[in-house]
Amino acid sequence: MSGPALLELDSISKHYGNIIALTGVTTLVNAGEVTCVLGDNGAGKSTFIKIIAGAHQQSGGVMKVEGEQVLFDSPRDALGKGIATVYQDLAVVPLMSVWRNFFLGQEPTKGWGPFRRVDREKASQIAKDEMAKMGIDIRDTEQAVGTLSGGERQSVAIARAAYFGAKVLILDEPTSALGVRQSGVVLRYIIEARNRGLGVIFITHNPNHAYPVGDRFLILNRGRSMGNFAKEDITRDELIMMMSGGAELEALTKELEAASGGDESIARVAEEFADELEERTETPD
Ligand SMILES: Nc1ncnc2c1ncn2[C@@H]1O[C@H](COP(=O)(O)OP(=O)(O)O)[C@@H](O)[C@H]1O
Ligand SMILES: [Mg+2]
Repeated sequence: MSGPALLELDSISKHYGNIIALTGVTTLVNAGEVTCVLGDNGAGKSTFIKIIAGAHQQSGGVMKVEGEQVLFDSPRDALGKGIATVYQDLAVVPLMSVWRNFFLGQEPTKGWGPFRRVDREKASQIAKDEMAKMGIDIRDTEQAVGTLSGGERQSVAIARAAYFGAKVLILDEPTSALGVRQSGVVLRYIIEARNRGLGVIFITHNPNHAYPVGDRFLILNRGRSMGNFAKEDITRDELIMMMSGGAELEALTKELEAASGGDESIARVAEEFADELEERTETPD
């Protein structure tokens, strides 16, 4: 990697009154890489990306875009620096056509003055081409987005962001409401976006979704960073363990085993814990 990272976050913290939602969180996002932000509910994931997206301002810490320190006042500021966010629920308008969703008010026009109007053919063609770049063949861009599958719907928003010049793409839990197959579809788009040179921030609580596509993993727990790992520094099993509270479970299992001293009922609980631990770290095919 030459030059500064696309996005650099150093010791970011955020307080809401007395509540410390984030403290000392550090990571980076490179062009053509995926940074995964993992954590359970309340970990601070949404707070973290709202800061990056300009929806909230950090209470402390430094954020840099391509080496230049920034402090965003609004999402518009972030967009101006090429940081686009795809929110799971708000990504598209289901009843509107694919091409309308693609442009959302930024349609190309033809004619001038009172004759100026949306160039439907051009808009439709651009939407079709851009979706094709994401590996999706939309036969009819007049069809309502609501008729697309869950994964494809988000791809419309992703393709749109890329077309309008996003450098950093933030995806907030894009797979959490989807089944296995549709999640696979979204993971493929994440890879496509990465291959096109975007820096992707992928928020998820599922290490099985994060590991295959991620280049870097930031793990949050109750507002604190549990680590910020490059892929070569963490295995999939370690990631799963960290996410599932596996380390705590492991310590507890050992403690119980040591304490059982012939007490069968305690030994049995320890055994159950050990089984659960094994189950959690099992690698599905
Ligand atoms: N606007 C807010 N005002 C007060 N507390 C908030 C606000 N937003 C989030 N929090 C608190 O910050 C913590 C982190 O929340 P959040 O970033 O939503 O976590 P996650 O997205 O990982 O579930 C939680 O304890 C939450 O209650
Ligand atoms: Mg959240």
